[in-house]
Amino acid sequence: MPATRPPGQTGYESGVARASPPKITDLAGRRPLRYDAQVDSIRIVGGKRLEGTVPVSGAKNAALPLLCASLLSDGESTFRNVPDLRDIGTTALLLQHLGRTVDVATPVVSVRAGAAVVTEAPYELVRRMRASVLVLGPLVARYGRARVSLPGGCAIGDRPIDQHLKGLTAMGAEISLDHGYVDARVPGGKLRGADIHFDMVTVTGTENLMCAAALAKGRTTLTNAACEPEVEELGRVLNKMGASVEGAGTDTIVIEGRSELHPVDHAIIPDRIEAGTFMVAAAATGGDVLVDGVTLEHLKPVAQKLRQAGIGVEREGRGVRVIAKRPFIPTDVTTAPHPGFPTDMQAQFMVLMCLAEGRSVITEMIFENRFMHVSELNRMGAHIEVDGRSAAVHGAARLQGASVMATDLRASASLVIAGLVAEGETRVLRVYHIDRGYERIERKLAAIGADITRIKGEDPP
Ligand code: EPZ
Repeated sequence: MPATRPPGQTGYESGVARASPPKITDLAGRRPLRYDAQVDSIRIVGGKRLEGTVPVSGAKNAALPLLCASLLSDGESTFRNVPDLRDIGTTALLLQHLGRTVDVATPVVSVRAGAAVVTEAPYELVRRMRASVLVLGPLVARYGRARVSLPGGCAIGDRPIDQHLKGLTAMGAEISLDHGYVDARVPGGKLRGADIHFDMVTVTGTENLMCAAALAKGRTTLTNAACEPEVEELGRVLNKMGASVEGAGTDTIVIEGRSELHPVDHAIIPDRIEAGTFMVAAAATGGDVLVDGVTLEHLKPVAQKLRQAGIGVEREGRGVRVIAKRPFIPTDVTTAPHPGFPTDMQAQFMVLMCLAEGRSVITEMIFENRFMHVSELNRMGAHIEVDGRSAAVHGAARLQGASVMATDLRASASLVIAGLVAEGETRVLRVYHIDRGYERIERKLAAIGADITRIKGEDPP
């Protein structure tokens, strides 16, 4: 059993002494999250065919809502198969700030309720990770109040949380915006069940209101809810905690509130987006790779598009085998909520279409600004034209190695894939983006034949 690391400390940070909720200045003062990782870069020499087996880690976008859902009960909850990522570190720091004792010994993370209860999620932590908003529902439901910094926009879009707030208001919370914070209070201290229809499908919106409804008085029905596997996973875990959640994974979720919930011990589902990224990387290099430990069910839309592009995708053992050889067939993609094609795979699939023999159109329907990778791919010799929400990709391009800048998590994954197929050397800068969602991606890719290394702490000229 590895030594238990203080909360917030994953493989990427220097230590934080575990104490009762630290004063926020301490955290800020000590910069627990090592921003020097910002200057790490990844160096890739392209042209190597990927071959072999690559393991998939636990799902980031399942782990975050589950860790926040642990606020709904006392006692100690234990989560297994938790990926070793920056965002897990940030979530652990946030839970510690809220009075929990958090032991991070990834892949195991345990969260224990302490004497102190803090219901404020500070700007310093929320600005590092938007998903921090996932403490809002559990805190309001559990303590009848919460003060959470508004996440604000990010590189890929404005990303408002109006649907989260609309739902909590319908459940009886009084919500005001105060100096950049959402201030929520429940007269009488207890939320009540409500019928809530989402104006648009929102993943964390659905998750926040599922948690809120789990401890509300009466029944809540969520319609036009998100159906993502991570939402289904949250429903599974809430039920293990003693809640009554039906329909998670469908667009209608019915929750009967309970007066209290109990802690849980749960192993988290595999990361379908990490798996999809490896499937596309394997395909782009004309490789033969077994992506191990995934649920093909969760990857249907990705597998379908890969097959359409002429790539072999087969279930094998506990995983998916991808066997590819050129030419690739141009394939149009439009992103949509699950079970549609995931927006978190759009950038990676675009690289593959740069290699296809002809023109493909990729349409981004979820986020209004998720083509930041296009200019970097064009700098590598791709020929992509953006027009509003659509990008026309003219293949087949001969990509050339270059120094490129990551702008967000999935854009950085697409640049790594481009580097794997490009001629010569590529340097991907600002890899702290990729560390947020991929566990030691360079080691996993090197193990299946990529010429890839992490360059520590220096900015190339
Ligand atoms: C989740 O973000 C994921 N993050 C994202 O993954 C993913 O891209 C996204 O869902 C879509 O699949 C986590 O699960 C932690 P949304 P979320 O609310 O919940 C609009 C990654 O790369 N909207 O489903 O924040 C919103 O602006 C990340 O791992 C409102 O207008 O996304 C967007 O256009 C990036 N009002 C659309 O809905 C609201 O109240 C979908 O957003 C909520 C959302």
